[in-house]
Amino acid sequence: MQPCTFLYKSDAARGRQWAEVFRERLPMVDFRIWPDVGDPAQVRFLAAWEPPPDLVHSFPNLQVLFSSGAGVDQFDLAALPPTLPLVRMVEPGIIHGMVEYVSHAVLGLHRDMPQYRRQQQAGQWQPLPVRPASARRIGVLGLGSLGQAVLRRLVDFGFDCAGWSRSSHEVPGVQCHAGAEGLGRFLARTDILVCLLPLTDATRGFLGAPLFAQLPRGAGLVQVGRGPQLVEADLLAALEAGQLGDAVLDVTDPEPLPAGHAFWRHPRIQLTPHIASMTQPQSAAEVVIDNLRRFEAGEPMTGLVDRIKGY
Ligand code: GLV
Repeated sequence: MQPCTFLYKSDAARGRQWAEVFRERLPMVDFRIWPDVGDPAQVRFLAAWEPPPDLVHSFPNLQVLFSSGAGVDQFDLAALPPTLPLVRMVEPGIIHGMVEYVSHAVLGLHRDMPQYRRQQQAGQWQPLPVRPASARRIGVLGLGSLGQAVLRRLVDFGFDCAGWSRSSHEVPGVQCHAGAEGLGRFLARTDILVCLLPLTDATRGFLGAPLFAQLPRGAGLVQVGRGPQLVEADLLAALEAGQLGDAVLDVTDPEPLPAGHAFWRHPRIQLTPHIASMTQPQSAAEVVIDNLRRFEAGEPMTGLVDRIKGY
């Protein structure tokens, strides 16, 4: 690989861990952490969470843009040159983290933990029936690398699992539904709904009243996609009416929520501050280095975004 600059613009402490991997594996590459850009004309590769201003003019020789996270919705795709490859983060660390978080959330809802928490606060000792996992129907929206990994683990627990995505997929042990025509059947059989969809024009506001109405009454929701997919007022109304039982939210719009927002103290909402999963520096740097090798060899990169689909 020719000497060039790889610029990193995300959490600096984690960037220093990327830098160590690059120093060892690709010593000819000058790995720099924003704002220490060096000569902008040398920057061929950029990994960013939030893109720098005026990316195209600032780095005239940019060849690949990597997202430092799983999503790419922080980029204005329309403002990027159509020929600039955009790559989202598909790395084992982020996948493991998501599998842990969703397993925890689903198991918690399955075993009525929110209800036991409320009972504890009310000083009630009240056992509820224990349903076997095989009698609980889990549905995962989004069958990308995260959705599929989550489903594999949930299948291992013995849950009755289904998945839905825009185009058809096959996942062992999982009923897969696809497209608008498959959505109703998928929702009607889902007791706990997990959203792992990317944010696109098609998924903005997707988690709203029309969708909630198609779930069995009292269904649970685990939202680990992106905040703007959820219609807040519809969630509050569905919880109030009992159409939804409990919700676990890791993402909101905006983040953080303003003080006094109804979600903070809602007895049926469990909120975490967008921590479901995080890119792990060591494994992420290794995946990016492998992608640089692929790029140089003219091979397809892992996580290359389809600019038309937006993910
Ligand atoms: C986090 O949400 C990410 O996209 O990595």
